[in-house]
Amino acid sequence: SAPWINPPCACQPERMSGGSMAMGARSKHHPKSLALRCYCYAASHRSLTLLVWGLAALVVLLNFHLLVTHGKDDQSGRPREIHRAILRELEVVEEERFQVTPARSRRNPRAVRRKGEHTKPLSVVDEFLDESSAVHDMFFPEPRTAIDPVHGGNDSMYFYHPGRVWLDTDGKPIQAHGGGVLYDERTETYFWYGENKDGKTYKAHSKGADRVDIVGVSCYSSKDLWAWKNEGVVLRGEKKNVTHDLHVSNVLERPKVIYNDRTGKYVMWMHIDDANYTKASVGVAVSDSPTGPFSYLYSKRPHDCESRDMTIFKDDNGKAYLIYSSEDNSELHIGQLTDDYLDVTDDMRRFLIAQHREAPSLFKFDGTYYMITSGCTGWAPNTALAHAATSVMGPWETLGSPCVGGNDIFRSTTFFSQSTFVLPLRGLRGSFIFMADRWNPSDLRDSRYVWLPLTVGGVPDEAADYSFMFPLWSRVSIYWHRRWRLPEGWTDS
Ligand code: DGJ
Repeated sequence: SAPWINPPCACQPERMSGGSMAMGARSKHHPKSLALRCYCYAASHRSLTLLVWGLAALVVLLNFHLLVTHGKDDQSGRPREIHRAILRELEVVEEERFQVTPARSRRNPRAVRRKGEHTKPLSVVDEFLDESSAVHDMFFPEPRTAIDPVHGGNDSMYFYHPGRVWLDTDGKPIQAHGGGVLYDERTETYFWYGENKDGKTYKAHSKGADRVDIVGVSCYSSKDLWAWKNEGVVLRGEKKNVTHDLHVSNVLERPKVIYNDRTGKYVMWMHIDDANYTKASVGVAVSDSPTGPFSYLYSKRPHDCESRDMTIFKDDNGKAYLIYSSEDNSELHIGQLTDDYLDVTDDMRRFLIAQHREAPSLFKFDGTYYMITSGCTGWAPNTALAHAATSVMGPWETLGSPCVGGNDIFRSTTFFSQSTFVLPLRGLRGSFIFMADRWNPSDLRDSRYVWLPLTVGGVPDEAADYSFMFPLWSRVSIYWHRRWRLPEGWTDS
């Protein structure tokens, strides 16, 4: 038996030495030993019973705790059953019957060789990236199917269509790629910041990545997270000064904005790079207003480390953090920002080491921190992973793929998109919008947005950590929908 169930007793030496001769010999010399042994046995039996009851009580308590925490009313005081019914709407599992037939010319290996192309059959992702393919057209539907908040008509009101062109309230395609959303308490308004990629796609040199010159960071405002008003370019690319970080020939990606309650400033962090992605730095800009203009302050390598894909996260206690891909994108780093959010402190932790993850997006639910990341495959989509931690600085554990619905290829490509931000729905506990980019490397300005419901709850598929048979983490799920809208009561205002 395990030592903690039946601990060796000082008055039972024969148990350890064993052997009947020894037992007999001892009985002779210690006439009281039988009584003593019985007493000891009874005592250890009692403690075993106590232990079993103790464990049972602990299990009951844990169950009760889970019931209470999972059964909590949401922030609007809505009863649990109604809350569950609302979530069910988001959590409908929608399958996709989607078959890929390779383009005719590519099916004939001789034709392929004549054209000097590679003979390996094209993967679905290759087809998706190939602008001449029908698969590409499927995932980048024509502008006439656009989400139009002004002229769409009542039937289409508030519906998200992942992958369709999304128009702002002026009827222009929204330019806010690699972006994030700030809820501004002062104006009770949502602000969506992102890369304005409204320029020509080209390669800086033959082996370079597809790129667009820096236009700047766009800002859009909304009250309902569906109809977005263009607030303009709040941080502009620099046309003349070639030594400036924001010179149009450089790279500005994944801008995120948080508000500093102490200084009253809106602080923007972004990935700053040269066209070859060798500068690998973060840039910081600041503004008195959510709609800018933002003043660019500086760039640096945080903690003297490379920094490419990044995000920032503001915790409930006002502390904020920078999370970035480093060491040639092989690992992620997290470090706290200074109180004014304008710099990083020295404290940094490495995590997901050698996992090669990027596009981090961090969020919090019920005291636990969660993160969605992507793999590192340039503009091509790959499999998202969810991670969790009880302390924001880690350790972080990987929970597995969060994608639900669609089909295998949809799930393994994160619905043909890459994470950029996870936005909490303030009125619906445990529900979020997963914001992702469907990049179009042949015409980056035409990259699309994939917004889907994300919920936290239930048992994760792959996380290995269990405590008293209870999984330590909840499942993070992103549900595929061709068309969906936020359920009533998603906002608490
Ligand atoms: C993947 C990153 O997530 C994007 O932000 C961008 O940097 C591309 N790589 C460039 O290839």
